[in-house]
Amino acid sequence: MSTWHKVCRLEEIPLRGSRVVPHEEVSIALFRTADDTVFALRDACPHKAGPLSQGIVHGYRVTCPLHGWNLELSSGEACAPDEGSTTTYPVRVENGVVLLAL
Ligand code: FES
Repeated sequence: MSTWHKVCRLEEIPLRGSRVVPHEEVSIALFRTADDTVFALRDACPHKAGPLSQGIVHGYRVTCPLHGWNLELSSGEACAPDEGSTTTYPVRVENGVVLLAL
């Protein structure tokens, strides 16, 4: 069963950018979209494990910095014609604080 953890304040995630949260053996990338929606994905592209946290956030998608795959931030799914997905984590913002379920 997962527990909600306070990880940072919303302002600590750059707008249309990301912040990395280490968790056990993986890194989780928190993404903040232009409308202040926050998503949490494993910081590894389903193609060749590129660091998604260094990608470009546009709308509700991120473009991987290595070979340009686009992923849906809500589902972690690669956009067609590419295939695959990365793990997503439940995240919410309460009173300006970002909470992550781990
Ligand atoms: S590792 Fe992300 S597109 Fe290749």
